[in-house]
Amino acid sequence: MASLTINGGRILNGEVICQGSKNSALPILAACYLIKGKCEIHNCPRLSDIDATINILRSLGCDVVFLNNTVTVDSTKAFGYEIPEELMHEMRSSIIFLGAVLGRNGRAVISTPGGCEIGLRPIDLHISAMKKFGVIINEEHGVLDCKCEGGLKGTAVTLSFPSVGATENIILAAATAEGTTTILNAAREPEVTDLADFLNACGAKIHCSAGAITITGVKELRGASHSVIPDRIVCATYLCAAAVTRGEVTVKDIVPAHLGGVLPVFEEMGCDIKLLHRQIKLTAPVRLKRIDKISTQPYPGFPTDLQALFTTLACVANGTSVIVENIFECRFKHVPELIKMGACIKTEGRVAVVEGVPRLCGANVNSPDLRGSCALIIAGLSAKGTTTVNKLYHLDRGYAEFEKNLNDLGADVYRTEEDDAKKSEQQTNS
Ligand code: EPZ
Repeated sequence: MASLTINGGRILNGEVICQGSKNSALPILAACYLIKGKCEIHNCPRLSDIDATINILRSLGCDVVFLNNTVTVDSTKAFGYEIPEELMHEMRSSIIFLGAVLGRNGRAVISTPGGCEIGLRPIDLHISAMKKFGVIINEEHGVLDCKCEGGLKGTAVTLSFPSVGATENIILAAATAEGTTTILNAAREPEVTDLADFLNACGAKIHCSAGAITITGVKELRGASHSVIPDRIVCATYLCAAAVTRGEVTVKDIVPAHLGGVLPVFEEMGCDIKLLHRQIKLTAPVRLKRIDKISTQPYPGFPTDLQALFTTLACVANGTSVIVENIFECRFKHVPELIKMGACIKTEGRVAVVEGVPRLCGANVNSPDLRGSCALIIAGLSAKGTTTVNKLYHLDRGYAEFEKNLNDLGADVYRTEEDDAKKSEQQTNS
């Protein structure tokens, strides 16, 4: 397994271009299966989750080419409605294919994706919504056998929680269903809006307003080109790298409005934020101030995907910060690893109390999950000495050219692949 070695203490300065959003690209690529034609999806980052999604599209009979951040999907001749278990389990968010496969075939046989490092990730909201379209679902031994004789019929769904994935699955199932579908208490994340924008470019009739979405089913969708929105979580990750190293970094090709719930927290910590056209410039203080309280919420609140990163910022802030994780039940796995680096954190259930220390110390730590891996890397950038972050496959799910971009900003970071590590170990032992 690859690991990243970080020599800490360097100040990050400069500019970085933000990648396209993983969490927008995944449902949009799944949506391409609904369209009996060719689609070009631009600004797609090179990530293992994107590769996993492409593998599923190919298993369903789509022709897919991924070149220079553009994924071209031709689903004209696609035929499948079964997704092999090993492909479903490669990526937890593969559940997003349920709505698209049902929408195209009225039939889907997929295995339940199961939980992951950050929680059980139930899919009850997805299942109950599909049943409202008239889908009969037989669940046995972890396989969902879904049938809808006569095609999906539009319906009204009120979500008990504004689930991003469930909202996206309902939109995908409703786009070509007979009749109109309404979603109340829908997720409002920008990635949901981006999916609707892409489908509307393909001829769908989707209207999003605050937490309500209306979809008028159309007979068929046509191929279109679309550029994925910037990744707001990756953008904030680079801003965190500047904040924790007393740096000054401008992130380009972003949508500042997508970070409305986050920028005030950077300012509360003493960072200066300048908004320019499609750019954000962060200038860090000599030492960050504590955060009174961060409480993760659905969009437009503070995003759960940034909780681990801001826990790291709080570790070296001046004072004690309180962080509450309301979305996922197991998203503090980066805490024990940060404690190895000298952090002073106490957790109780969904609450973490972080007492800032002047400096962390480099250590050998293990990535617990995708965003936890970034939290540890950011901690290594500010720590005294050298940090090694293992299990980099988590990072590679969501960040393209991460170490290159950090080094271009002045960091001293290098990747060691497993065989390199073995070689260097043999050399030292010989
Ligand atoms: C999406 O996951 C994102 N993933 C997550 O990003 C993100 O953290 C999450 O939304 C919240 O913003 C993608 O878009 C691919 P949810 P999703 O359904 O759709 C519960 C990352 O790091 N729930 O909004 O799975 C669930 O257990 C990833 O990029 C049910 O109870 O999130 C959780 O507590 C991590 N039943 C809460 O809702 C259901 O049927 C939020 O889940 C579905 C969800």
